[in-house]
Amino acid sequence: MTGSIILIGPMGSGKSTIGRLLAARLRLPYVDTDALIVSHTGVDIPTIFEIEGESGFRERERKIIADLSAQSEPIVLATGGGAVLDPANRRYLRHIGRVIYLDVSVDEQLKRIRHDRNRPLLQNTDLDIRLQTLAEQRNALYQETAHWRVPGDGLRSDQVLRRILRHLQQRTGPIPTRG
Ligand code: S3P
Repeated sequence: MTGSIILIGPMGSGKSTIGRLLAARLRLPYVDTDALIVSHTGVDIPTIFEIEGESGFRERERKIIADLSAQSEPIVLATGGGAVLDPANRRYLRHIGRVIYLDVSVDEQLKRIRHDRNRPLLQNTDLDIRLQTLAEQRNALYQETAHWRVPGDGLRSDQVLRRILRHLQQRTGPIPTRG
């Protein structure tokens, strides 16, 4: 198993959780664009949105993805839900490695992130309508960017992980067991 794996998909689709599990399973470093932004700035994402607006956050996200695309070490990369909005990001992500779209419905998102306080785009808004609007704007972009889509509704992280591992195995042969 070689090459990087990139997880894309909407908020609450499980990118970080599954990314961590996948990285451990494949023995690759786990990288999370949101976590990098937080560690570079020293403040949380709501604070970045407050001070720099969404455009400032997107600029930071773009820079991190461009930097990652220039590195050759294989990684498992979890991206923020809005990373696919930028055409350069979409190109870079496909350049970095195999892009997997964790596809969950708005209903599933609502179950998972109804009480979230760390996602600025979901605060002080009608959550249902906001998630629906974002899905309409973004789902085609996830689909366009991904090499492969895995449906996640009603599945636990370990079940999605198994599907991803099976998919990777079919493409590249057996994945060494951990030990
Ligand atoms: C965002 C998703 C978040 C984070 C930021 C913006 C988005 O990441 O990047 O709050 O635009 O969908 P997650 O998808 O990991 O929640």
